[in-house]
Formats: sequence, C-alpha cells, structure tokens
Amino acid sequence: MPQTDIFPGEVFANTDEFDTGIRELLPKYDELLETIVRCVPAESRTVLNLGCGTGELSLKLLRTYPHLRVVAVDYSPRMLAVAIAKMKKWGYGDRFSCLQADFGELAVSDSLPDAISQPFDACVSSLAIHHLEDEMKAKLFAWVGDRLPSGGCFWNGDPVEMESEHLAKVYTALRETRAKERGKTIEEVRAKIGNSVPQGYSGPDRLATVTAHLEMLDRAGFEAVCVPWKYFGTAIFGGIKT
Ligand SMILES: C[S@@+](CC[C@H](N)C(=O)[O-])C[C@H]1O[C@@H](n2cnc3c(N)ncnc32)[C@H](O)[C@@H]1O
Repeated sequence: MPQTDIFPGEVFANTDEFDTGIRELLPKYDELLETIVRCVPAESRTVLNLGCGTGELSLKLLRTYPHLRVVAVDYSPRMLAVAIAKMKKWGYGDRFSCLQADFGELAVSDSLPDAISQPFDACVSSLAIHHLEDEMKAKLFAWVGDRLPSGGCFWNGDPVEMESEHLAKVYTALRETRAKERGKTIEEVRAKIGNSVPQGYSGPDRLATVTAHLEMLDRAGFEAVCVPWKYFGTAIFGGIKT
C-alpha cells in the first residue's frame, strides 16, 4: 500500500492518529512533556512553543499555569488545525495563538513576524528540532536565546543519538513491550507512519549526542546548561539565558 507523503515530524499519515500513535511509539511521551512543563517557572507569562504539532505540550502548559499564554509555531497546517481545534475544545483558545512557519527559516531571517515579536519568558519544544541539521540546530538555539530575557529558560525534549548499540537494542525491545501492553505490535504502530519528505529546513531524523546539544546551548549563550530528564534515546536539555 503506498504511504501518504507527510512533512518531517508529522509522523503519521493521518494527523488524527498522532495523539494515540505517538503514545504507542514513545512509552514515556507524557512524562517527557510533563517534565518540560515542570521546568518552566510557574511565574512565566508567555511561552514560545516550537514545533507544537497537535498541541499536546501547549495544552499541558495551559492546564498547569492559569496565567500563561502560549504562542506556538509549526510549519504543518494539518498539525496546527488539530492544535487550534483542541485549544478551543478545552476552552484555552484565548490563551493560545499560533504561527505557521518553518523555525529554521525564522532562525536565519532578518525580520521577525508580528506573531512572535513580543518578549517571551521561556521557550519549549518537544520532538521537533532533531529534524534540523546540527548547524541549523545551533542557529536556532542562538535565535531562541535572542528571544529570551536574561534569566529566561529554554527546554527542548528531543531524540538523541544513543550511547551504544547495546542500549539502542534494549530501548527498541522496551518500546516493543510497551506497545504490546497497549494492545498493539510495534509493526502495527509503524504501519500508520507516513512517508516523510524533506520540507524547508527539516529532513529525516538528524540525531546529535547529548554532549553536542549541551555544547550548542553553551555557545548560544545559555548557562546552567543541563539534562534534567533522559530515558534511553530521548532527553530534555536546556538552560538559562545569561
Ligand atoms: C513529532 S511532532 C511533535 C509535536 C509536539 N511538539 C509533541 O510533542 O507532540 C514534530 C512537529 O514538529 C514540526 N516541525 C518539524 N520541523 C519543523 C520546522 N522546520 N518548522 C516548524 N515545524 C516543524 C512538525 O510539523 C510536527 O508538528
């Protein structure tokens, strides 16, 4: 059966299957997002969410912090449509706005769209930036730093290069076991994945090591750079803008 062409990061051929499918693919998906939310200071007022997808991270932020406004960026009109409908459904439409844009393009552009020209207290991202080449990741981290005041934070939860083949195999086996516990084989879940075709600055998974990420953050002007959470091939890393 021919697979449907999708943008890198959309993952599933049918966007409506993302929220269920990603939880079958990534056993600690909710824990990953909830840890990013906890890393955002409660007194934050505006947060930029890069690669928001169907809005699961934005939704958790809005539910946790009643005074927070989220500005979300994604290049996929399909993912954004789901996110917008979800925020309306849960009554968060007035605290959620979004911009359809390629975050790689934003990072190299001389101008800033009005939708994101305001100052942000924090920037977050999940499972999106790893689609950029390392050079572009570094440019994006520097661009994020320019959007934040001194003391503002950036947390990115993303797949990383595994430290050894052995651990990669253990992780694969764990993912298979967890999918089975949800009543699916990993093959059944993978069958729902679309055919990812390079789009703008994004391509297939371009994983960097945790160390490489930390060095990029350091060079981008962040301090207290660290990894508050890691589960095999997925980690949260970030820091505080100096
Ligand atoms: C795997 S999804 C994750 C969505 C959401 N952050 C989550 O954790 O559920 C990755 C998202 O990043 C978006 N994305 C990937 N590359 C992008 C780029 N260069 N610019 C904007 N969005 C991008 C995709 O469209 C997709 O919605």
